[in-house]
Amino acid sequence: MGDQLIIRRAGADDADGVAGLAGELAQSFPFSRTRFQAAYPALLADDGACLLVAVHASEHLGYLLGFRHLTFYANGPVAWVEEVLVRRQERSRGIGRELMSAFEQWAAAQDCALIALATRRAAPFYRALGYEESAVYFRKVLKEQLSE
Ligand SMILES: CC(C)(COP(=O)(O)OP(=O)(O)OC[C@H]1O[C@@H](n2cnc3c(N)ncnc32)[C@H](O)[C@@H]1OP(=O)(O)O)[C@@H](O)C(=O)NCCC(=O)NCCS
Repeated sequence: MGDQLIIRRAGADDADGVAGLAGELAQSFPFSRTRFQAAYPALLADDGACLLVAVHASEHLGYLLGFRHLTFYANGPVAWVEEVLVRRQERSRGIGRELMSAFEQWAAAQDCALIALATRRAAPFYRALGYEESAVYFRKVLKEQLSE
């Protein structure tokens, strides 16, 4: 890559870039641009949310959305990775690792005791980054969503 890859917190101007990537990640629910537009500024304004983008030559190559929340079991905050995606053609170049590393720094600065996440497709990626399998993930879908 000629220009340098930059990993940084997302701002309002990154909305289109992140929307393009988030649409690629969507599996369980069809991606809704309308709902994205509503959620995006709310996430940027949320102190407990961390939205990171990987940008190269003003192209958005990846993003990570994570959260911090308080717990009793860890005697304080823990962090969760909710979504992470690197554009298909850009995978296996270390971008996912850099996004996770930036999130780890954010979580540590937020005094989080651990970082957790659920994954169906990327277990080898997290193992390569030093994450350990620790629990089974259950869910109950509350809202069936139709495409818009
Ligand atoms: C998972 C994902 C974010 C990884 O991003 P990436 O930029 O390709 O990952 P990196 O190049 O930084 O890889 C980091 C390490 O993980 C390993 N790794 C990544 N994907 C892997 C895979 N599918 N199988 C085995 N190892 C993998 C790499 O070999 C690398 O290890 P190394 O540094 O020891 O060589 C990317 O593949 C992706 O967007 N997948 C689709 C969306 C997804 O599944 N997201 C996770 C949902 S929870």
